[in-house]
Amino acid sequence: MKRGMCPGTFDPVTCGHLDIIERAASLLDELVVGVAESPDKGGGPLFSLGERVALIEEATRHLPNVSVRPFATLLVDFAEDVGATVIIKGLRVVTDFEREFQMAALNWRLDSKVETMFIMAIPEYMYLSSSAVKEIARHGGNVRGLVPDHVAVALERRLGAQ
Ligand code: PNS
Repeated sequence: MKRGMCPGTFDPVTCGHLDIIERAASLLDELVVGVAESPDKGGGPLFSLGERVALIEEATRHLPNVSVRPFATLLVDFAEDVGATVIIKGLRVVTDFEREFQMAALNWRLDSKVETMFIMAIPEYMYLSSSAVKEIARHGGNVRGLVPDHVAVALERRLGAQ
């Protein structure tokens, strides 16, 4: 039984995240999507932790071996809590590499029993990020196709109400 964990802030989940989650889930018996509280990221998340979890639950409903859990601890401690032995991260552009390399090295230093593995984003999603999606939505641009439809609706509601 191989259980993996796919961590992130997911503010909000994009089609790029979902592609990595689907591909990771097809390689593992079970995959836990770990939603980090990340209170300090980018001036604070747009969606609350509970909202981010709910948006991913909806997006992964078709994946029976995927569950979604919030966390506010060290990643390696969360991996141990859920019994995951591998951390799966998506890699997009070269600029991701340095940060991911640093996190993988530090996580290995904190707990060498947990392996970090990377899945390359497909070309269509290589330049997609939650921050870019929020910026497009904030200016009234069309985010359909970049995020699942229910996330586009949530973005319209949240940013439209500002
Ligand atoms: O989607 P993100 O914001 O790039 O994800 C970053 C995340 C949540 C994976 C990272 O910030 C993290 O692991 N946070 C938990 C705290 C922790 O363990 N920090 C040390 C990692 S070096």
